[in-house]
Amino acid sequence: MQQATINTNTSIVVVRGGRRLSGHVSTSGAKNAALPILIGTLLSDEDSWISNVPQLDDVLTTLDLLTTLGKKVTVNGTVIMVSSGSTPGTTAPYELVKKMRASVLVMGPLLARWHQAKVPLPGGCAIGSRPIDLHLSGIEKLGGKVSLERGYVKLESQELIGNRISLDYPSVGATENLMMAASLACGTTVIENTAMEPEICDLGNCLSGMGAQITGLGSRIIKITGVEKLHGVHHDVIPDRIETGTLLLGCAVAGGEVTVEKTRPEFLGATLTNLRKAGVHVQIGNDSISVSNDGRPLPTDVETAPYPGFSTDMQPQWMALESTGTGVSVVVETIFESRFMHAGELQRMGANIKIRGRNAIVRGVEKLSGAPVAAPDLRAAAALILAGLAADGETEISGVQHLDRGYEHLVEKLHSLGADIRRSK
Ligand code: UD1
Repeated sequence: MQQATINTNTSIVVVRGGRRLSGHVSTSGAKNAALPILIGTLLSDEDSWISNVPQLDDVLTTLDLLTTLGKKVTVNGTVIMVSSGSTPGTTAPYELVKKMRASVLVMGPLLARWHQAKVPLPGGCAIGSRPIDLHLSGIEKLGGKVSLERGYVKLESQELIGNRISLDYPSVGATENLMMAASLACGTTVIENTAMEPEICDLGNCLSGMGAQITGLGSRIIKITGVEKLHGVHHDVIPDRIETGTLLLGCAVAGGEVTVEKTRPEFLGATLTNLRKAGVHVQIGNDSISVSNDGRPLPTDVETAPYPGFSTDMQPQWMALESTGTGVSVVVETIFESRFMHAGELQRMGANIKIRGRNAIVRGVEKLSGAPVAAPDLRAAAALILAGLAADGETEISGVQHLDRGYEHLVEKLHSLGADIRRSK
């Protein structure tokens, strides 16, 4: 059996700009689907096999979390087997939750399965305060008792009872937590104003494979009729649409012709529409997307929105692209209140960006120039790499631990397409 390893002993990525990209590259499994699906295995005592799991630090953190909670995990390349190990635990350690906010998704499964859970409040986050009030009020609707104890959320219940829950906002995490809790509740739960992201559908399909009764996936109303027991499952994680989008924008910013394979083009509607507006030639295959571009992108405004809108997880990369655009683009961030930290780093490379509240006004410049920059978060790290592809000279990106949380082999993939990019100490 092969253990998952991440190359984190090198601390910066060095990009020398000016190379066109060309060739074919494959998409890895979706981080944002793999994490909730792995956590969903807590709902069953039987063995599960989850395949197409990307090798990422966030996945390793999730596996640590499952082990702490009494599961046994066996990694064989991109397939992870989860089985019942030691005595089940119901407390998520602070050390893991503070590393990865998605750890709060254990609340629903633990409460449904063991009638209790203790999970630290995730605390502050680089891209905004990110509360979990919607998760907690939904759990209360199902009969869970919620209290706070020394920084931990303590959840208790007899049996969870199905109910109607209307989310004030279509939160991805709250939808996932409540779907998992409701799967083992008594009776029917109707969740209104749910998130419609493909990763929610993937989790729902996995839960259905475990025996859950779920309808309405991919719509704003999901109905779940609780069952007494869930079984083990074989489930293949969907491709990562954000990784696909990042690679496509890499080609758009550097110039060239690239085909991203093993992807699901239907998940990238808003990104592809905007790439076309920016003058990039886009061709869609069954499970591939080809782009080609020469010259600077046309200015294109984007506004982030819940799926199927333009993803907040593509916003930093879009800002990097339009930093070299032929005019003024307005980038509006509506999901997270402080997700513009990459703008300051892009400015260090010569980008002309003004932040006005939730709007970023990006005046494209003819050329960025390489500089030492620091990645403040995961998608910002990708954005700085893209900017480096288009810059004169060398860009040294530190804070690469963020990249390793969520992109599998991005440096190697861009290198295989012809980019001058490497890791360095
Ligand atoms: C997930 C994704 C993340 C993506 C985000 C939005 C995972 C592991 N992460 O994060 O990559 O950027 O969706 O597409 O899938 N909110 C509240 N109260 C809550 C929950 C959320 O106010 O109880 C707010 C958040 O602060 C944020 C907005 O709702 O402003 C969206 O958050 P949410 O959809 O929950 O994102 P995450 O699940 O954290």
